[in-house]
Amino acid sequence: MSEEVTYADLKFHDSSKTENIQEFDQLGIKAPPAPSRAWRQRVVALTLLCLLLLTGLGVLGSMFYITLKTEVGKLNELQNFKEDLQRNISIQLMHNMNNSEKIRNLSITLQEIATKLCHELYRNNQEHKCKPCPKQWIWHEDSCYVLLEGYKAWQKSEKICSSHNASLLKIKNKSVLEFIKSRSLRNHWLGLSPRKDYTPYKLLDETIISSDWFRSNTNDLSNGKYCGYIHDLYVYYDECTSLKNAVCEKLANPVKIESTLMKEVPDGGM
Ligand SMILES: *[C@@H]1O[C@H](CO)[C@@H](O)[C@H](O)[C@H]1NC(C)=O
Ligand SMILES: *[C@@H]1O[C@H](CO)[C@@H](O)[C@H](O)[C@H]1NC(C)=O
Ligand SMILES: *[C@@H]1O[C@H](CO)[C@@H](O)[C@H](O)[C@H]1NC(C)=O
Ligand SMILES: *[C@@H]1O[C@H](CO)[C@@H](O)[C@H](O)[C@H]1NC(C)=O
Ligand SMILES: *[C@@H]1O[C@H](CO)[C@@H](O)[C@H](O)[C@H]1NC(C)=O
Repeated sequence: MSEEVTYADLKFHDSSKTENIQEFDQLGIKAPPAPSRAWRQRVVALTLLCLLLLTGLGVLGSMFYITLKTEVGKLNELQNFKEDLQRNISIQLMHNMNNSEKIRNLSITLQEIATKLCHELYRNNQEHKCKPCPKQWIWHEDSCYVLLEGYKAWQKSEKICSSHNASLLKIKNKSVLEFIKSRSLRNHWLGLSPRKDYTPYKLLDETIISSDWFRSNTNDLSNGKYCGYIHDLYVYYDECTSLKNAVCEKLANPVKIESTLMKEVPDGGM
């Protein structure tokens, strides 16, 4: 009896399974086939492959990480080196700038010393080779002066001065005034603007602040204009066509440093 019941149970289970399968069939879905040996092998192989790939990926990842770390380290090192170099270069540049400024300062100082020395040499020898003015010209401070003796009209005198790249003397400061006074010039044309009317004489001292000093070229001196000239401590006016001496002035050249080391008097002399 009991055996029969068990069989019946089993059969019942079996038949229900079969029913299930039949239901699946009715829905049009294939039931999974029973796992075969080949299929299982394929799964194992695929799993192994996946594992292998994963391991490879891991190795690659860690390699990439290590490489990245090394490269970043190298980059930082390079960055530091670059900053170091930039700092060193800017220090070097500052040194160079200081050095070139020092050289510039030294050469200015040297030029000043040479000029002072040449003034001393000139005091003892009016034609010392260091003199930055042409021969026969007088050197005072940073200008050169020449006395034109040989009576000429004012305009002609101005032209002669021009031909020496100079102009008729203008006395515009105390230093030049004192220098000219010490020379006690007589009948020398000055670089004063020609005037239409007769002008009374003035003290030389008064003229240095005046605006009468000649500025532009005057071509029309035909109809009786008056020009100024120095006579001792005074400035007089006379017709521009009358004949007088003249004083020209021009800026001195810079003293040539090596010329202060020359000893002998140049030929020609005074
Ligand atoms: C920068 O200068 C310092 C000291 O002068 C020196 O030790 C360093 O090597 C220099 N760096 C570079 C990048 O030249
Ligand atoms: C450059 O000169 C100035 C002063 O003249 C000084 O303060 C500075 O330290 C100098 N720089 C270098 C790099 O020598
Ligand atoms: C150069 O001269 C100027 C002005 O005289 C001064 O200010 C500067 O510090 C000098 N420079 C050096 C590097 O001696
Ligand atoms: C005075 O003027 C002369 C030229 O007119 C010039 O060479 C000289 O440097 C001036 N002196 C002063 C102290 O300004
Ligand atoms: C005048 O200056 C010019 C140009 O600067 C020069 O060629 C000429 O030789 C100078 N003349 C005199 C007499 O100094």
